[in-house]
Amino acid sequence: MASIAPSPRLVALLRGRGAVLVLTGAGVSRESGIATFRDGGGLWEGIDPMTVATPRAFAADPELVWRFYDERRAHAAAAQPNPAHHAIAALEATRRPFLLATQNVDGLHERAGSRALVRLHGSLWRLRCTAEGTEHDDPTPRLAPLPPRCAACGAMLRPAVVWFEEPLPMAEFDRAERAAKAASLVLVVGTSSLVYPAAALPLTALAAGAYVAEINPEPTPLTASVREHLPGEAGAVLPALLAAAGIPMDRAA
Ligand code: APR
Repeated sequence: MASIAPSPRLVALLRGRGAVLVLTGAGVSRESGIATFRDGGGLWEGIDPMTVATPRAFAADPELVWRFYDERRAHAAAAQPNPAHHAIAALEATRRPFLLATQNVDGLHERAGSRALVRLHGSLWRLRCTAEGTEHDDPTPRLAPLPPRCAACGAMLRPAVVWFEEPLPMAEFDRAERAAKAASLVLVVGTSSLVYPAAALPLTALAAGAYVAEINPEPTPLTASVREHLPGEAGAVLPALLAAAGIPMDRAA
């Protein structure tokens, strides 16, 4: 178990009754073997995101973009939720109101049992028709042929994720923002806090008086503003936090 020393205030808030918001990023899935974006060995180290994660890139070379996302689907399908995912689902089981706002598209939170969640950047497991805009779930680890086509109209399908230069799904973001304004406790886990508007949520919560704690082995641009920074890996720190607050890990949401 990680030797972290959460403050008595954080433990009290975890035990308390106030509203909780958890914001997660790619760091939460790293211990499941899924690369982050900006760390050493991260996805954007080897690939220019402008060539695979923008509407223009998709228009220019849909097969290239699909090969990139098909690879990510296969990785996510082969991965397992880790103790960080399970701890967040266990925390959800003990708290109301509770919201998980995730930037992750890999589906590991859902597989760990999280239910009260919004996907700020969409999902690898949803496909959208480029002509009709309709979306559907598709759990197939490997799609073939690429690019996949809409069964209804034959148009190309795209991954229902949020690309650079695209707006976030408004309903999901609004829900996260309302939760940030109403939260007593906000946990910011495994995100570099560089990508907006998701990175604004902890600042909104701080301005509304919430206690914001960051869990990340590295400092981020947010670290100087939070009430508490826990410098460790989410898969070790989150279970240790729940243990300190007497919250069982095996409770499902
Ligand atoms: N536990 C906690 N945090 C970790 C761990 C870990 N085991 N491993 C790495 N981290 C931290 C890193 O220190 C870094 O700050 O996770 C963060 C990952 O940052 P990014 O790779 O920038 O990922 P994220 O913040 O989720 O990116 C935001 O950018 O590329 C877009 O749409 C994509 O949703 C993504 C968004």
